[in-house]
Amino acid sequence: MKRLIQNGTIVTSEGSFQGDVYIENGRIHSIGTGLSARFPGAELVDATGKLVLPGAIDGHTHIDMPLGDIHSSDSYLTGTRAALFGGTTTVVDYANQVKGESLEKTLKDWQNRAKGLTVCDYGFHMTVSDPKEQFLDEIPALLEAGVSSFKCFFAYKGRLMIDNDTFVQLMKLSRKHHFLVNLHAENGDMVEDATLRLLSEGKTGPQFHPQAHPREAEVEAVARAIRLAKDTGGNLNLVHITCKESVELIAEGKMRGVSLFAETCPQYLVLTDEKYKQPGFEAAKWVLSPPLRKLDDQNALWAGLANGTLDTVGTDHCPFFFESQKTLGKERFDRIPNGAPGIEDRLELLYHFGVKQNRLSLTEWVDRCCTAPAKRYGMYPKKGDIVPGANADLVIFDTEKHHTITAESRHMNVDYNACEGMSITGKVEQVFLRGIPVIRDNACLAEPGSGQYLLRFAAEGC
Ligand code: URP
Ligand code: ZN
Ligand code: ZN
Repeated sequence: MKRLIQNGTIVTSEGSFQGDVYIENGRIHSIGTGLSARFPGAELVDATGKLVLPGAIDGHTHIDMPLGDIHSSDSYLTGTRAALFGGTTTVVDYANQVKGESLEKTLKDWQNRAKGLTVCDYGFHMTVSDPKEQFLDEIPALLEAGVSSFKCFFAYKGRLMIDNDTFVQLMKLSRKHHFLVNLHAENGDMVEDATLRLLSEGKTGPQFHPQAHPREAEVEAVARAIRLAKDTGGNLNLVHITCKESVELIAEGKMRGVSLFAETCPQYLVLTDEKYKQPGFEAAKWVLSPPLRKLDDQNALWAGLANGTLDTVGTDHCPFFFESQKTLGKERFDRIPNGAPGIEDRLELLYHFGVKQNRLSLTEWVDRCCTAPAKRYGMYPKKGDIVPGANADLVIFDTEKHHTITAESRHMNVDYNACEGMSITGKVEQVFLRGIPVIRDNACLAEPGSGQYLLRFAAEGC
C-alpha cells in the first residue's frame, strides 16, 4: 500500500514546513517536496491548506473501567473510535489491579477486555492497588510484557491509597528497572477529613466536591512525592496536575535534577470551578479528581505547558452517564463516580485555546499532545513523530473549520460533554493509522479489533 499526502503544512515537535509525506507498508518512507515524481502510482491525498500532524497519543484514559458495580461508559470500541475522531491514534489506558490478584492476571484480563474491539493502537499502564511484595516482584515480568509505567495513589483512602513506605519501595524499583511511576497526587487523609466534615454539616451536593479536594491536598502530595523521588532517585510522573503551586514545585524539582515528568489535562486548561455553581445536581458532570480550579491556576498550567515544566496533556477520559451513573451520588457527593469524558476533544481544544490564543506554538502543541507522550511512555520514534521509519499515524487538521462541541456531535458513549456548547475553530479532518485511512468524511472506517497492542519500553530519561 502506497500513499502520498501532498502539499500540507507538516508540523512536528521540531518545526513546520510545506511538503509531502510518502507512506509505504504502513510506515513513513519519505518526507520532502515534489515527491510525486519520485513515487509514481501512489494513492494521492491532497492536504493543501491543511496541517499534517503525527497521530496524537493520549497517555491517560480509563476505558471500560470497573468502579464498584458499574463501569465507565465507553467500551474499547466506542472509546477508541472516539479517540480516532479526535485525532488520537494511540491510547495508554489504565489496567487496575484488583486487590489480591496478580499483576499478570490483571494484564491478561485487560487485554481480553480490549481484544476484538480496539480501533486505535494501545498500551496499558498498571495501577498497583495491592502493593504486596509478591506483586511487586512481578514488575520485571510486566516490563517484558510491554508495561513500562505503573500508577499509584496518594488519594482514595481505604481503597487505593498507598503509604510513604510503599511509595519509596516502588520508586526504588523504578530506578532499578527503569520504569515510570505515575502518581495521583492528592493527600487522601486531607480529602477524607474534608469530606467527613462537609457531610456532617449536611453539605451533600455535588457543589461541595471541590471543597472536599482542597488545593492543599494536591500541593502537599506533589511536594512529598518530589521529595521522595529526589531521595530515592526514582522516576516520577505526576498526572492530572491542576494547581499553580504544583507547577512551581515541579519546575523547582526539575531544576534540581529530579527524574520528574508532569501531565495536565484539557479540562483544567479550559474550565474553572465556576462549573460547580451550576444549579441542582448539574455540577456532578464535573465531579472529577482533582477538581477544576481557578483562572489563576489555568494561566499557570498554560505557562507551565509552554515552558516545558509540564510535559504532556492526557485526557483522564473517564466517562459516566449523567442520567444513570452520576446519579448514584444524588444523596452524597462522595458517591458520585469520579471522572469526565474527553478522549475526543483534546487536540482540538488545545489548538483553539492554546495555539489560536497564542499560549502554545504549533510545535509545542504537537509536542505536548503527540511527541512527548510517545517519549515518556516508551513508544518513540515508532509513534509520535513524522520521521522516516515511524508508523504512518497521521492527522490532517483543518485550522479554519468552526464547530460547536456537543455530546450529540461527538462519538463518546456518554450523555453529556464537559465542554458542551463551546464554539471552537480547528477540526480533525482525516486520520491514518499505520497508513490506513481510519477517519474520512466524518466516518470511522476502522474494523473493530484492528488496533494493535504496543509493547512499550522504558521511558526516555528513566
Ligand atoms: O476523577 C478522575 N480523575 N477519575 C479517574 C481516575 C483517576 O483518578 O485518574
Ligand atoms: Zn488519578
Ligand atoms: Zn486517571
